[in-house]
Formats: sequence, structure tokens, C-alpha cells
Amino acid sequence: MQPGTTQQRFTLIDAQVDSHPATFAQEVKTGLTSSPKSLPCRYLYDKEGSKLFEEICQLPEYYPTRAETQILRDRAAEIASQFSEAIALVELGSGSAVKTRILMEALLRRHGKLRYVPVDVSRTILEESSRILLQDYPSLEIIAIAGEYHHGFPHLKAQSDRRKLILWLGGTLGNMERPEAVRFLRVLRDTMSPGDLLLIGVDLRKDRTVLEKAYDDSQGVTSRFNRNILARINRELNGNFDLDTFRYSVIYNEKAGRVEMCLVSEQAQQVSIEKLGMTVSFEAEEAIYTENSYKYSLPEIQALVSDAGLRVAHQWLDDGSRFSSNLLAPSS
Ligand code: AVJ
Repeated sequence: MQPGTTQQRFTLIDAQVDSHPATFAQEVKTGLTSSPKSLPCRYLYDKEGSKLFEEICQLPEYYPTRAETQILRDRAAEIASQFSEAIALVELGSGSAVKTRILMEALLRRHGKLRYVPVDVSRTILEESSRILLQDYPSLEIIAIAGEYHHGFPHLKAQSDRRKLILWLGGTLGNMERPEAVRFLRVLRDTMSPGDLLLIGVDLRKDRTVLEKAYDDSQGVTSRFNRNILARINRELNGNFDLDTFRYSVIYNEKAGRVEMCLVSEQAQQVSIEKLGMTVSFEAEEAIYTENSYKYSLPEIQALVSDAGLRVAHQWLDDGSRFSSNLLAPSS
């Protein structure tokens, strides 16, 4: 590809096939009328929440970001060497982030050019991060796919003129229930051709105290990150949550292998949410579940991967054996 203007090197595909996607309002209503109460964790990431999550990634207690970054720095050249010609680097979620750039630079060094294919629900985030990447890398071409992952997948399948490396970093797989993770990986596997690879970050089971500290930091950033979802309900749906009456609480459920995050109402109270036309009653100490973060043992990763019709081509751990990066290939 000839280096062109940033405009010439950018294509946006609209994969938002759903004209009535589930809305924040509907899902808040469903979650707060369920028993136990819950809120979907993807709504933690509005503008404020995304900023707080960036802060979480810098916390001394939150090891996954640093661990994965270390693995990628150590292995980027080796990952790039799996491919003899220029590839399409697909990413679920859109990077401008340090980790994506480490791989991009290794691939550009190896092949001289690269097509980057980020899939993200937010068109704005895609446009903004692409603009910066295209400025920084003159040999980069971007085909951005705006939509939910499963709506983006048919467009990935169409990217078959070159081999693909699909990235799913950060351990986001941990937000899915275990059977859901298998199903999701299977659908992702079906977008892959022979010779394509999938790199996924998976956080490992470990000592309870390490996990509980990682998700309940001493500066209270993770607490603010979680309580922001109540602030978001106040902002967007005219709710009257008093954030000070909700305590953030974390437990590691070792049997299930998941960190469970919730907000606990410290008193019996009623909260009204004007735009939903509803009043929500809380008993003292009643919880709203906000997020699960599943952890995997190495045998659990093997089982997950093979149940999804994939095989582990390479598996790397960070120096502290806290986090894993798994390079997967279709098994059939
Ligand atoms: C973005 C889902 C990988 O589970 O570690 C971090 C989210 N929540 N601290 C994780 C999160 C609170 C994070 N993931």
C-alpha cells in the first residue's frame, strides 16, 4: 500500500444492524427490578468511567495491565514472526493504547505495512483513536468496524485477503460467565481462516488477598469507578441515588473462581428514577451486583480453548505468573 493521507487510509464500516439496541434505560430497569439487583458492567464505561478505568490500570495493586504489557513487550517480535507477509490486525475494543501499539510496531517492523481493524461500539472512539494512529504510523491502513462484536464478525470473515491476528486483550473475557466465554470464542473461531491467530489475555486464579486488593485498591479508585454507575443513572435518567449511602464491596468467590463486585446500600431506603417512572426500594445491606471478573487456572484455559474449537499455539505468563497471554489457532 502506498502511504496516503490519513483520510485515504481510513474506512469506517457501520455494523450497527440493530435499529433498537438494548438501551441503558431498559437495562437499568430490568436490573434493578431483578432479585438480586444487578447492573450490566458494560455501562460502567461512560466518559467518566473510562477515565477512572484508565486510572485503575495505573494502580500499584492492579497488576493485569502491567503484566500483560510486559508479556507483549517480551513477545511482540516472536508474535510478528508467525506471519510471513503483511496481515490484518483485528482488535476487539479499540486501541490507541500502549499494548496495541507494541504489537503494531513489531508488525510494521517485520512487514513494512499493516492493516488495523478495530471493532468497537463507539464510532467516536474509533474515529478519534484512528486519527492519532494514522498520524503516528504512515504505513498503517485502518478499516474500523462500528458495532457490537457479534455484528462486526461477518465483516471480519470478509477480511480474508490476508492472514489475521485477532487481539482480545486486557482479560475482558473474565466478564463473561464460563459457558458464555466458550460460546463467544467459538463464534470468533468461525471468523478465522486457517493460518489466522487469536491472541487473548486471560487472568489467572491466584491468592485471594492479591485479587481482593487488585479490585479494592487503597486509594478507592475502583470504588469510585463502580459507584459512577449510580452517578450515571442520576445524570442520564434523573435518579436521586445518594452515592455516600452505597459502599463498594468485593469478594473473591474461590469456588467459582471469580471476583464479585457490588454496591451495598448501607441503609433501608427508596431511590426514585424519574425517567424510568420508578422507585426502587433497598433493604439495609442489600447489594447491587455490578461486575464479575472470572479467573482461570491453566487447565481451565486449556479446556476453554479446546471446547471452543481452538488450540494453544503459544502460552506466555508474566514474571509473577499472574496473567497469561494465549496465542490460539483454529484446531480443525
Ligand atoms: C476490564 C474486565 C478486564 O475484570 O480486571 C477492573 C475490569 N473492574 N477493576 C477486570 C475491572 C474493576 C477489568 N476488565
